[in-house]
Amino acid sequence: MEMENLKNSLAPLTAEEILAFIASNYGDRAVFSTSFGIEDQVITHILAQQVQPEVAIFTLETGRLFPETYAVWNRTLERYQLPIKAYYPNTTAVEAMVTHKGPSSFYESVDNRKECCYIRKIEPLKRAVAGYKIWITGIRAEQSPNREDMESVEWDADNAVIKVHPLFHWSLADVEQFLKLHNIPYNRLHDRGFPSIGCQPCTRAVQPGEDFRAGRWWWEDTSKKECGLHSKTK
Ligand code: ADX
Ligand code: SF4
Repeated sequence: MEMENLKNSLAPLTAEEILAFIASNYGDRAVFSTSFGIEDQVITHILAQQVQPEVAIFTLETGRLFPETYAVWNRTLERYQLPIKAYYPNTTAVEAMVTHKGPSSFYESVDNRKECCYIRKIEPLKRAVAGYKIWITGIRAEQSPNREDMESVEWDADNAVIKVHPLFHWSLADVEQFLKLHNIPYNRLHDRGFPSIGCQPCTRAVQPGEDFRAGRWWWEDTSKKECGLHSKTK
């Protein structure tokens, strides 16, 4: 019921209005996840303009991010002066994996890759969203065929939280225009052919005309290219 009401309330709203609605109706019961990608930077910017920014922001520090990602993380803190909570992998789990399988096990099999994503992203994500009603992300429908099937408001049964994607209907051009208009700091890798940026060993640049996510886990089948943060749960 709450889901249906929320869907109806948010449907006609712009991204700014969606985030204002969430801030005033959920406040500190809503949380936003940023990987410092261009979409996330738009959302951080909008949240920072709110009179009383109450929606918490977190990032999953997998330990394998690009230097450029740490750089934009710093620039974001300087510009917006908002706390961004860092979640690290469970030390015992990551130590055991790397001790037994080495630091690059993800290249060896899909199972190993999923194990690494579970330890470095999914389990920390569960801690990050636990207890919240709303989890805001920077997902856009255009990013992949899998994402086109999602909805801008959805129930995440695994984490018992309502996911909201305020930029769901934005195009890449909309995002780039907004960044430029507000002079928002962004990851320099975007100018070097990286439309989607995750961990360094699992992300590479794409060629002109290639799919947005072609550079993520490029050695795997297209059908497997989600790390599990955003698997369909409905
Ligand atoms: S992923 O599932 O392939 O890694 P993607 O990079 O497209 O996700 O990002 C989609 C959304 O997931 C981002 O807008 C952000 O909300 C969230 N996200 C992805 N990676 C992280 C991260 N490391 N920390 C926090 N949020 C993340
Ligand atoms: Fe591990 Fe690669 Fe997944 Fe990052 S993207 S958590 S390095 S498998």
